[in-house]
Amino acid sequence: MRNSIILFVNGEREELSPENSFMTVAEYLRYKKGLTGTKVVCSEGDCGACTILVARMQNGKLGPYKAINSCISFMYLLDQTHLITVEGLKKDNELHPVQKAMVENHGAQCGFCTPGFICAMAALTEDAKNEKFPLEEKRVKNYLTGNLCRCTGYDSIIKSGCSVDLRTTPLLGSFYDDGKIEKELATLKGSVRLTFENKTIFLPASVDEATLEKKTKSPRMISGSTDLGVVSNKGKLALTEMMSLNNIASMYSVEETATHLIVGAKASLAEIEERTAKAFPAFSNNLHIFASPQIKNSGSLVGNLVNASPIADTIPFLRVAEAEVVLRSSAGERVVNVNTFIKGGYKELDMRSDEIVTHIRLPKTNHEYKLYKVSSRRDLDISTVTMAVRYTLKNNVLEEFSLALGGVGPTVLRMNQIEAKAIGQYFNQALFKRLATDVKNSINPLSDVRGSTDFRLILCHNLMLKFCDEVMTDHKISFQEISL
Ligand SMILES: Cc1cc2nc3c(=O)[nH]c(=O)nc-3n(C[C@H](O)[C@H](O)[C@H](O)COP(=O)(O)OP(=O)(O)OC[C@H]3O[C@@H](n4cnc5c(N)ncnc54)[C@H](O)[C@@H]3O)c2cc1C
Ligand code: FES
Ligand code: FES
Repeated sequence: MRNSIILFVNGEREELSPENSFMTVAEYLRYKKGLTGTKVVCSEGDCGACTILVARMQNGKLGPYKAINSCISFMYLLDQTHLITVEGLKKDNELHPVQKAMVENHGAQCGFCTPGFICAMAALTEDAKNEKFPLEEKRVKNYLTGNLCRCTGYDSIIKSGCSVDLRTTPLLGSFYDDGKIEKELATLKGSVRLTFENKTIFLPASVDEATLEKKTKSPRMISGSTDLGVVSNKGKLALTEMMSLNNIASMYSVEETATHLIVGAKASLAEIEERTAKAFPAFSNNLHIFASPQIKNSGSLVGNLVNASPIADTIPFLRVAEAEVVLRSSAGERVVNVNTFIKGGYKELDMRSDEIVTHIRLPKTNHEYKLYKVSSRRDLDISTVTMAVRYTLKNNVLEEFSLALGGVGPTVLRMNQIEAKAIGQYFNQALFKRLATDVKNSINPLSDVRGSTDFRLILCHNLMLKFCDEVMTDHKISFQEISL
């Protein structure tokens, strides 16, 4: 068993002691490597000043380079990766085309935000070349939703992104000799255990090893660290006994069968957004406005579910989709419907301390979905209220109607009583006016910084009416033709 973390930083092999492995990535880069181009401003994944690029070994090859926030990630999560910082984009004294474009278009403004913008746009050029899409303003803006510029000089930054010539932009895998790095990283086998002071991290090489560890020591799981990294940085939680499935290649898969889409515990939200576009387009669109590319490249669906926030964006969908949660322990596998996995209390789950979640299975059906997220701003914001509906209309009668609401109780709620009132009814505005009132009368949301009780009640009422209007438009239902 290895007791060090091995990775490459800007093409150089690094072997980290346990002590250094527990540092956040940003701390390690700045204080141990002197790579101070990576900045730390918010320490909570919100501003993008700490953006770096990471490619992870998967089945003997380095995957694509993706932007992540280094302030909320830990070095032990980057075992078997190649990490590139803003300094590493310049080679042989030659600036990367993104860096050149930022200089030429006056996009390089203050030293705090600029390195993060450059790394986020280098990730954009990687995807643009790999996936063969042009650098249009909309794309550039999408890739920059996780980067804040406090002086609001966005115009020149976006202009810089659009002006990069992809033909002369090298892929980072050829810029650095990925083949050489892969050869070295591919020799790393087996599990990793690191201990420093009161902290331990175990990186098992198989699910069996993970379940055995859970049985004997019951460590806390950490996946993309986009929830846990924030609470740790804010001093609200000490991450002491930890385990991550990061080094188990099969956990990154998103597999489509005739009946299900099966999402591995380590599949990133960015990958899931892409892979659900056909089977669950409403969910894919919903993920489009989830956080930022940096967060979605690290964060997982399993992490969002198990964190069990009442305003988690994916849970309303998972509840109406009747998702199946696959749990593993040394006693075997247990598959639980998400609606029983989530119990009534705040963050109360049907998951034993010796269990881990290995997959979430999404049953493929012919139902239609509508998903809503209400937040103060469209991008990179936490929801005030969320709503998910799964429905089937036949001859304008609701054959199926499943409803879930987030941000209105201790957990995301499944509204069984409202569903029972809707099923079998003609779809019209009168029905939804009544149901909207019933929804208001059956919830009791809290007041907090994101919205008062009254505001949340009005939002839920209006979302029901919005859903009604949208479905009537989609299905060309006219008011005159339908009566109760
Ligand atoms: C800037 C920012 C923006 C965000 N925006 C959004 C947003 O728009 N919408 C939203 O819903 N959330 C948002 N989040 C929250 C977060 O990104 C998501 O909840 C994400 O899905 C968490 O996934 P993760 O892999 O990073 O989880 P982690 O932080 O690694 O873990 C979260 C929880 O899951 C548990 N866990 C992880 N893996 C397993 C496993 N295999 N088995 C059992 N338990 C496990 C952990 O123990 C922990 O309790 C945001 C966070 C940040 C920092
Ligand atoms: S420092 Fe702001 S996202 Fe990391
Ligand atoms: S570039 Fe830093 S504040 Fe605008």
